[in-house]
Amino acid sequence: MDRKEFLSAIGLTAASAVVFSCVGCSKSDNEGPSNSNNPPTGVDFTIDLTAAPNAALNNNGGFIYTNRIIVAKSMSGAFLAVAQACTHEGTSVTYNSNARLFVCPNHGAQFAENGAVNLGPATVALRRYNTSLNGTTLRVFS
Ligand code: FES
Repeated sequence: MDRKEFLSAIGLTAASAVVFSCVGCSKSDNEGPSNSNNPPTGVDFTIDLTAAPNAALNNNGGFIYTNRIIVAKSMSGAFLAVAQACTHEGTSVTYNSNARLFVCPNHGAQFAENGAVNLGPATVALRRYNTSLNGTTLRVFS
């Protein structure tokens, strides 16, 4: 029995088989590699800089991941916060303080400290978040 005979036997035409083949597809499946990987929205949280898991932020060039955001401290001491997921295929970016870039280890995309694409294959910027420091408490917010 060939494909046409099989489909006919179960009551489907080739056209209906094509329609049903995409029933499980979602929009994001079809967006390709340039989607934004759904960066966090409505962000507003604080980071206790005296807590051990956040110790990296006490050093210029250090960074942590929290709430799907990478929070870094630049070599000049400024706090930076951008979405953690690379906009290419979602790999967690790292922070290269000497180059002043967020870098994706998967395919090599690079993003400026403000999240803008510096080098592909990513074509969409990392979402950037605001930061403000009050004593030893760092607020990260949209
Ligand atoms: S996942 Fe491909 S460059 Fe980041």
